[in-house]
Amino acid sequence: MGNKSLAIIKPDAMRANHFGKIIDRILTAGFKITELKIARLTLAQAETFYAVHRERPFYGELTSFMSSGPIMPIALEKDDAVTAFRDLIGATNPAEATEGTIRKEFATSVGQNAIHGSDSDENAEKEVAFFFPTRDIQDNL
Ligand code: CMP
Repeated sequence: MGNKSLAIIKPDAMRANHFGKIIDRILTAGFKITELKIARLTLAQAETFYAVHRERPFYGELTSFMSSGPIMPIALEKDDAVTAFRDLIGATNPAEATEGTIRKEFATSVGQNAIHGSDSDENAEKEVAFFFPTRDIQDNL
């Protein structure tokens, strides 16, 4: 069981100015934020990040949405971070998300669902490295 996960506050939640409330939820749930930035993916970068989904019918919709505006990638640490964070954000489809989860409150559809969380320890490592390949200032937070 790993202690890292990658969150991405998606363009819908950024446009709606929900990122402050979402970060508060993440901190209140006991996660440590070790990296955070505002970024914007090109379509090609979104296609690379979501390459695992390239055969899915929603791949085009997903990658064009994720490159449609600013996003906020956040590297997180907590014991059993992947599972704990997926519990905090709730089901992919907000209609199925449990009361009190981030997607229940902020997501509007299965595609525009406010936030991403890594689905395995292996992907967490890859996804953190995708957005934060080097640390800019210090490595001893
Ligand atoms: P995310 O956790 O970022 O990883 C893959 C994304 O695909 C997922 O969130 C959803 O937002 C998106 N997704 C899954 N199913 C659909 C769908 N049927 N239509 C559009 N997007 C989808």
